Amino acid sequence: MKTMLKWCAVGLLAGCMQRETRDDPGAKSETFTQQAEAGGKLYGESCAGCHGDSGQGTEKAPRVVGLSEGALPLDPPPERKKRTTRFRTVADVAKFAVQYMPAKNPGSLPEADYWRILAFDLKANGIDLGDQHLDMALAETLEIPRAAKTSQR
Ligand code: HEC
Repeated sequence: MKTMLKWCAVGLLAGCMQRETRDDPGAKSETFTQQAEAGGKLYGESCAGCHGDSGQGTEKAPRVVGLSEGALPLDPPPERKKRTTRFRTVADVAKFAVQYMPAKNPGSLPEADYWRILAFDLKANGIDLGDQHLDMALAETLEIPRAAKTSQR
């Protein structure tokens, strides 16, 4: 089971996506706005227990909302145990989340739910993509806005 999840998480985002699309054919046509809306509930169910109701972080896990307050830093802070990669684009965060989150059951959510939760998290961080559909292709193009350039959407 574990091997399968890992296999799924590491190289096969595309494969997972296909499986997910088959299971949930509507998912691909959701707009960012719809994804974020669904993602709020999913975040509450699967992530808030550790990352806090509004992503502010708890003693169990770092904040994931509030870029200016240090959420999702570019370089993994020294105290991080799992994260070794940089978060330059939204895709970097997505890959980390699929591989390692939720911490006690990594890779356990359907692919579409990770994108919904990410949409919710982006929106909470002030990034709104409106009618676009958040997926890996779009995520690769989205650089996480850092202090020096806060106006990127
Ligand atoms: C059981 C507690 C727990 C749950 C549930 C959980 N996380 Fe985490 N999360 C952590 C911990 C601990 C870390 C720090 C990992 C490390 O040391 O690298 C983390 C790190 C992260 C990071 C990277 C933050 C950073 O700045 O490095 C993201 C993104 C993230 N989690 C997203 C999620 C999402 C999305 C969910 C829900 C699907 C989720 N987490 C559920 C405990 C949890």
